[in-house]
Amino acid sequence: MTSLTLALSKGRILEDTLPLLAAAGIEPEEDPLDSRKLVFATNREGLRLLVIRAADVPTFVAYGAADLGVAGKDVLIEHGGQDLYEPLDLGIAKCRLMVAGLPGALEGAANRPLRVATKYIETARAHFARAGRQVELIKLYGSMELAPIVGLADVIVDLVDTGNTLRANGLEPFETIREISSRLVVNKAAMKMKHDRIEELLDVFNRTTEAQRTQSRAGGK
Ligand code: ATP
Ligand code: PRP
Repeated sequence: MTSLTLALSKGRILEDTLPLLAAAGIEPEEDPLDSRKLVFATNREGLRLLVIRAADVPTFVAYGAADLGVAGKDVLIEHGGQDLYEPLDLGIAKCRLMVAGLPGALEGAANRPLRVATKYIETARAHFARAGRQVELIKLYGSMELAPIVGLADVIVDLVDTGNTLRANGLEPFETIREISSRLVVNKAAMKMKHDRIEELLDVFNRTTEAQRTQSRAGGK
């Protein structure tokens, strides 16, 4: 039996991925949310799971260390993504990638390059280039919302879901760069070499995500 390795993003995405796996009938040998292990066998013969940092999933899959992966669209855009197939939107970990800042921040920087703090440097560069706006990009690894408050940047490019983090820090959303959700990605060589096994798994995920969409529509969500 062909073996398959599926790389999962830990953190928020993992919390949304585990119910999806359960609905697809895939059970890890122990609960990844409650374990220090990084590799998990499953009840499906030959299928193992890796649990790794969200930003590393595209790298593991692109190099073939994992055949498939679950990654946020934000991470995939920043990675570049042309070395991966992205066959399925899982519809989980939904949020928006936005430009935000203190009220009036854009007007305040109208006559000089806009200072932008973000961990999405390439995405932000492309976005402001499309808009014809000169920027100075400042790389951060987290807590982006702090940057405008302490004068490190005029605006941030970061993920927004409920808007609670922006509000709690006195920031306003200015503009949505794009809607984000998590995607199933596949290594290009594996798609050829392990085609039947991967198609079978894609089919299971397809049916599961479709059933969940129908359910949430019926629930009025
Ligand atoms: P790390 O802890 O490895 O540095 P991180 O802090 O970015 O990574 P998470 O906050 O768990 O890790 O986010 C991982 C992914 O979850 C993001 O890439 C995005 O796709 C999704 N995500 C992040 N924030 C939200 C949010 N507020 N609502 C919904 N999805 C989110
Ligand atoms: C993410 C994101 C925002 C927050 C947005 O951070 O970077 O800070 O969620 O969500 P909200 O609009 O619902 O408040 P996370 O909580 O993952 O922490 P991080 O800064 O460590 O990534």
